[in-house]
Amino acid sequence: MNQQTYHQLSIQDPIGFWKQASDLIDWKVKPETILKQNTNGYAQWYPDGFLNMSYLCLDYHIEQVKGHDIALYWDSPVSEQKKEITFLQLRNDVAKFAGGLHKLGLKKGDRAIIYMPMIPEAIIAMLACARLGVTHSVVFGGFAAHELAIRIDDCAPKVIITANYGIEVNKQIPYLPIIEAALNQAKHSPKHTIVHYRKTQFPDSYYEKGLNFSDLIQQPLVFDPIPVESTHPLYLLYTSGTTGAPKGVQRDTGGYATALKFAMQEFYNAKEGDVFFSASDLGWVVGHSFIAYGPLLHGCSTVLYEGKPIKTPNPGAFWRLVENYQITHLFAAPTAIRAIKKEDPDGIFYQKHDTTTLQHIFLAGERCDITTYEWLNSLTQKPVIDHWWQTESGWPMLGMMQTFENSQPKAGSAGLPVCGFDIQILDEAGQQLPAHTEGYIAIKLPLPPGCLQTLWGNEALFEKSYLQHFQGYYTSGDGGYKDSDGYFYVMGRVDDVINVAGHRLSTGEMEEIIATHPDVAECAVVGVENQLKGQVPVAIVVKKDGTLSEKMEAEVVQLIRQQIGAIACLKTVYSSQRLPKTRSGKVLRKTMRLMLEGKTFQIPSTIEDPEVLNELTALFNTIR
Ligand code: COA
Ligand code: AMP
Repeated sequence: MNQQTYHQLSIQDPIGFWKQASDLIDWKVKPETILKQNTNGYAQWYPDGFLNMSYLCLDYHIEQVKGHDIALYWDSPVSEQKKEITFLQLRNDVAKFAGGLHKLGLKKGDRAIIYMPMIPEAIIAMLACARLGVTHSVVFGGFAAHELAIRIDDCAPKVIITANYGIEVNKQIPYLPIIEAALNQAKHSPKHTIVHYRKTQFPDSYYEKGLNFSDLIQQPLVFDPIPVESTHPLYLLYTSGTTGAPKGVQRDTGGYATALKFAMQEFYNAKEGDVFFSASDLGWVVGHSFIAYGPLLHGCSTVLYEGKPIKTPNPGAFWRLVENYQITHLFAAPTAIRAIKKEDPDGIFYQKHDTTTLQHIFLAGERCDITTYEWLNSLTQKPVIDHWWQTESGWPMLGMMQTFENSQPKAGSAGLPVCGFDIQILDEAGQQLPAHTEGYIAIKLPLPPGCLQTLWGNEALFEKSYLQHFQGYYTSGDGGYKDSDGYFYVMGRVDDVINVAGHRLSTGEMEEIIATHPDVAECAVVGVENQLKGQVPVAIVVKKDGTLSEKMEAEVVQLIRQQIGAIACLKTVYSSQRLPKTRSGKVLRKTMRLMLEGKTFQIPSTIEDPEVLNELTALFNTIR
């Protein structure tokens, strides 16, 4: 069988296919109903099954006499610390911390926000929540107070679990002032803040606040996993949409566990005992699925890395990790590979390490350019697999499934549809387009297990964002085409979402923030191609009167850093007299992006005032 035939089976008989896949996990109560479709065609998977994710990731392996195997390698060059944690040790910490949370009154159905750096306590917190049926929401530690406040208000957590600081290469990032500022901005007040006080080479930072993580983890109450309904929300993960408000992607438990088990086994071709290293952050979906839950669920060791691909201390960092932990599966964003390539183009650092254990390298998070793909392929001589997925999907939708020996990737393509995803290229009217014609990437309902259930507390926005554009389909927000062999090419977003160093950001949100500057009349933010980061945002700002001073440009940059965080990477601000618009008032962002990238563009017939484009061309030409 090849991937396409296997995929066809999953599409023709989703119930039979996903029933078989669900047998791979140890349910407390096995589901009798496999698929229930809502009136809008959307799927609920295994609605009458019961299980617990923390049990599957920990206790299950202990019962299989694997308790002394390594569950987690923590490697932190930025704090000069390392740790090896077995399944047994991790289970004990998780059970005790869950006991501590229970004593604080946390129970199934409550929410907890986790705002932590890449330390084992973050995974302990996630698994402890899962153990209790508390829905967690991990917020990426690079987000500023404003972003945290939005999430606090949206999911109304009972507790925030944090640490005293994170470390960015050699910079200490104090978290407690960020938490304090977020709590001041938010309307909702969580009952408790729990702080893990790290001890590293940095000075003890800062003041004592809230409850101490280590007190909670040291208390004697050990908590057993509570079986929850398959549809019980394991987590909420906020992601950028087209507006200022991030969307709370809600993930179930049973569908997700089944999908991750299937992905580990059938897509990544990982075996129990393999070592999985996803070079992401727990605050992103990759971190949830393939640092925390997927590898642990499958009995693999996972590597939690608090460092960068370069600078900590050099571009050999990933290869050192491969050698030290005998990593079999490496997963990174193309940006990380571009950064390594830039600093080590001839692979001198690569050659210093023994990478023979490495079986596959997976790339995702953004489109991978062919040069980077080929460089990595020729340097490592390992299969390099680009694969496409989103926060919403939770696991790969396109990619070459590594269980098939004859699986041949094509450079520049994200590969073939993964089982369960009936992916089609549609035109504006919802008609399927022929090969080599670019259109919207949409997925015929029902989506397979593991994908988002809804948006937290906002079913109407869920339907509007994903289900209403094309009747009977999930709209991905990406555009692309397929070739005559059925391989897909994902070309980028069709909305106002941009991808900066594999981080998904909303230009709409940036515009809303810039518009709060008292001297800004209007503005547009567009994502412009960048050799290292894929895209970076550029702001075009119209001042209420006159042109922007350098001081005001700096204020605009600072606003974004303060409100979203430095990861937004907005560094360029242009002053313009006007913005190009259609007669109906729509700002021509795509046209401005093409102009900034020096590409040819067509002047839309609906433009209100073509002269504005000449002004902008002159402006951009002087700067480029
Ligand atoms: N906490 C606080 N600040 C953070 C942060 C965090 N967790 N992560 C990043 N930042 C800050 C950085 O310090 C930097 O601040 P500065 O502008 O003051 O220097 C800014 O955000 C931009 O960071 P980054 O995007 O990491 O850029 P960089 O130039 O420092 O590093 C790369 C470039 C390519 C090494 C880096 O972008 C990278 O590792 N990319 C891969 C990311 C990834 O794995 N994405 C996939 C997610 S699935
Ligand atoms: P996120 O939800 O943060 O994981 O971002 C998802 C978005 O990243 C997708 O909608 C795509 O635009 C982009 N993306 C992820 N993986 C790929 C890939 N392999 N190729 C092209 N784009 C990708």
